Amino acid sequence: MSKSSVYVTRMIPQQTIDTLRERYDVEVNPHDRALTKEELLQAVRRRDAVISLLTDKIDGEVLDAAGPQCKIIANYAVGFNNFDLDAATARGVIMTNTPGVLDDATATHAWALLLATARRISESERYVRAGRWHGWAPMAFIGQDVDNTTLGVAGLGRIGSKFARKAAAFDMNIIYTDAKPNAEFERQYNARFVDKTTLLRESDYLSLHLPLLPETHHYIGAAELSAMKPTAVLINAARGPLVDEKALVAALKQNVIWGAGLDVFEDEPVLAPGLAELDNVVIVPHIASATTQTRLAMGKIVTDNVIRVLSGEAPLNCINLQVLK
Ligand code: GLV
Ligand code: GLV
Repeated sequence: MSKSSVYVTRMIPQQTIDTLRERYDVEVNPHDRALTKEELLQAVRRRDAVISLLTDKIDGEVLDAAGPQCKIIANYAVGFNNFDLDAATARGVIMTNTPGVLDDATATHAWALLLATARRISESERYVRAGRWHGWAPMAFIGQDVDNTTLGVAGLGRIGSKFARKAAAFDMNIIYTDAKPNAEFERQYNARFVDKTTLLRESDYLSLHLPLLPETHHYIGAAELSAMKPTAVLINAARGPLVDEKALVAALKQNVIWGAGLDVFEDEPVLAPGLAELDNVVIVPHIASATTQTRLAMGKIVTDNVIRVLSGEAPLNCINLQVLK
């Protein structure tokens, strides 16, 4: 029997590729960039498995281009808003993601953004590097306290709850929204379940940890920003379209809120006009899970899922469960 054919849409850790090569014919996108749609349609042809990135839109057209022998599309990401799950289910293709292994890395990164925004780290570093620092100044780069403030968490899922737990180090009051309250979490971390209106009104720091769904699109828009404190900071390391980025630029310009720390954007890698010119926003390029250890752990999950499915076993992280019925 010939070896199964696996396509990887962009270079991921070499160790992951090597493990896959022990069993399969593996081809990797040779370019250091995402594939165009045309390239993707060509590249997936006759593959038994595809490892995709969050930048690859996997819809019916791509699945048809792959062909009926294709058994699994394994996303090298926890988020899967790039997947058309119904199209895959209709064609009997299993879709998987990488939950769990990136919770701490992503939650810690949201903290890095929160602290960097509150203490104006990026802005003041640019100032020093530009040779503009001429000595200690009592009123330069005045930031906001983090300790003993109120932390708002929108979405207490795997990443949101990891993020919230880390607030204990800063003696913060934790308030959160979610589909339903989590009594155990509240007891353990002295957190309070609130409605969205309260979350917006009371948070000194508001961090988003929601999946991107039609109902969470623009979860934060002009009205929500106006409902926040003028001293509040918004953090987004989830998905860009949760925030109306144009409205955020306007709010940051007019000091409707104090600052924002963003890992994700509405139309990556394009930023909303004016965003990059603002000093009260920290901007980084969607790197929340980008650590050596986490990237390897994500590689292990996609590999395990591909091996299981190509050996006729059920995957560990199927996200279109209907397909297994
Ligand atoms: C990154 O954004 C992911 O979804 O893994
Ligand atoms: C600051 O460096 C201080 O000594 O207060």
